[in-house]
Amino acid sequence: MCGIVGYTGKKNAVPILLSGLRKLEYRGYDSAGIAVSTEKGIEIVKLKGKVRKLEDKLLSYPLIGHCGIAHTRWATHGKPSAKNAHPFRYKNFSIVHNGIIENWKSAKDELISLGYKFTSDTDTEVALICFYDLYKKLGINAAITKLTEKLKGRYTFLFIDENKPNEIIGIKSGNPLVIGQNSDAVFAASDITALLSFTKKAYFMEDGQFFVAKGSSLKFYDFAGKKIEKSPEEIKWDVKEAERGGYKHYLLKEIMEQPDSLNRVMAGRLNLFDDELRETIAPKGRIICTACGTSYNAALCFKYFFNMLTGRSVTVENASEFRYQPFDLDSDSLVIVLSQSGETSDTKEALLIAKTAGTNTLAIVNSWESSIARMADNRIYMNIGPEISVASTKAYSAEVMLLYLLALRIAGEMGVSKEKLQIWRDKLSLVPEICTHYLSNITNIESIARKYYKNKNFFFIGRGIGYPVAVEGALKLKELSYIHAESYAAGEMKHGPISLIDNDFPTIAIAPDNKQRAVLFSNIEEIKSRMGQILLISDKKLEGCDILIMPEIDSWLSPFVYILPLQLLSYYIANLLGNDVDQPRNLAKSVTVE
Ligand code: F6R
Repeated sequence: MCGIVGYTGKKNAVPILLSGLRKLEYRGYDSAGIAVSTEKGIEIVKLKGKVRKLEDKLLSYPLIGHCGIAHTRWATHGKPSAKNAHPFRYKNFSIVHNGIIENWKSAKDELISLGYKFTSDTDTEVALICFYDLYKKLGINAAITKLTEKLKGRYTFLFIDENKPNEIIGIKSGNPLVIGQNSDAVFAASDITALLSFTKKAYFMEDGQFFVAKGSSLKFYDFAGKKIEKSPEEIKWDVKEAERGGYKHYLLKEIMEQPDSLNRVMAGRLNLFDDELRETIAPKGRIICTACGTSYNAALCFKYFFNMLTGRSVTVENASEFRYQPFDLDSDSLVIVLSQSGETSDTKEALLIAKTAGTNTLAIVNSWESSIARMADNRIYMNIGPEISVASTKAYSAEVMLLYLLALRIAGEMGVSKEKLQIWRDKLSLVPEICTHYLSNITNIESIARKYYKNKNFFFIGRGIGYPVAVEGALKLKELSYIHAESYAAGEMKHGPISLIDNDFPTIAIAPDNKQRAVLFSNIEEIKSRMGQILLISDKKLEGCDILIMPEIDSWLSPFVYILPLQLLSYYIANLLGNDVDQPRNLAKSVTVE
């Protein structure tokens, strides 16, 4: 959470930092701030609110300087306010921070006992004053070494120093930091999208490293202060992919571009990863998938598909639970982690636990060179370009597609016939076209949204592969519209939830043509008999139900096709309610705290 950005070079730092902040705002957006080394020394402008508000303020309070740092915040320590917004300043130093200092309280008490005073409730100010105290006693390099020994937690800092007006120092321990360089400047940011407009040459910092940059000069060190060599990488994402491309919101763009992104996911992969995964991956032991949120929901689809294909079961676990769960992992197991950002704290920790147990690990990620991508034994990239909108859409379908293809690969290694696998490859290869056709012929989703948007509660139900689609549909609706939405395997309704049904509590039923549909339709009748309204997502009409009519497809493809009306419905409802669809309240895209 939180986005940090830094610049040192020949140009005015302010527009570059603001452009970076706009790209990073998905990481948190409750306050924003900027610190620039100007002719008067370090000057800071910060406030509660979004980057747009900071830009307005800078119009009446312009800053000019060639070096600076900036921040967009998702509050952890201390509520959103100008006082708790970054950057912080102490004496000659200013800091921005992404992460959490776990031992902030004891460090703060110690500094207070030394006579230091604090102006905010944040752990960041503790880190800054701690750094200053060490710097005063030891000088800069030894202060960095000591600071990193002293602080517990996961943190990435950028510092500027009034005494060295063109210099930035960046420290990485746990949270991401990418450095870009061109012929006249160095850029630093939490993720590469903030750098794409300026350079494609990037250095990915590892934990335990810091950098010092001045103008275009750039040096890397380890925490012991030893100089290290790093090689730059060429960033493959295109700057256009991080823009809205004529759509009103990133969310709508990302929903609509799924046929294209699925084509990109599949390109070269219908050979079932022969180029990417050279060794056998079917484990003798268990297969466990772990992830958070939407990525977890994608893994639920894999569980059903893999079981249908091979008869074997897969365990799917929330990463936040997995990390504390004593699973009997060993070298015969395979742990698959999924993460769009590649930085989700719980998923990262779950991966670490699997690795420590000697288990073979495979990561499915979108963000290039992210921590999770680097840590796993094997990695598969989604290749869908950046997902900017906070609610995940195209990463979900990409994850499901990669998992389906992976299921085919593992099934093949387990002896499932080539003919059977080929039938599935043929079906999957048609998915982008089916999605394009569906998206170009949508008619009544907006009117359905208008009918339902004032309701306060929704159930989402499904059976078989319709169930994980219902789970993801409910998550999309609640995070975008702030309406209470709960998902259930339809058979569970009569074990309790049905008691909530009345005329004001509609149910959205995901009803693809699978073998469970007849019994799902009976469950729908039970709801209707209790005055519950039903919105059916199906290719088959049912009397007394609203319907979003779907194409006739193999039910196993519903995670790609049936999810589209659910994403769009959530989008339209959120719009009708006047919500910020790209940056829903209280959320952040990259969840780097536990
Ligand atoms: C929901 C959403 C979140 C993420 C979750 C995991 O729309 O975006 O639930 O799916 O925070 O994020 P990643 O995939 O980056 O690990």
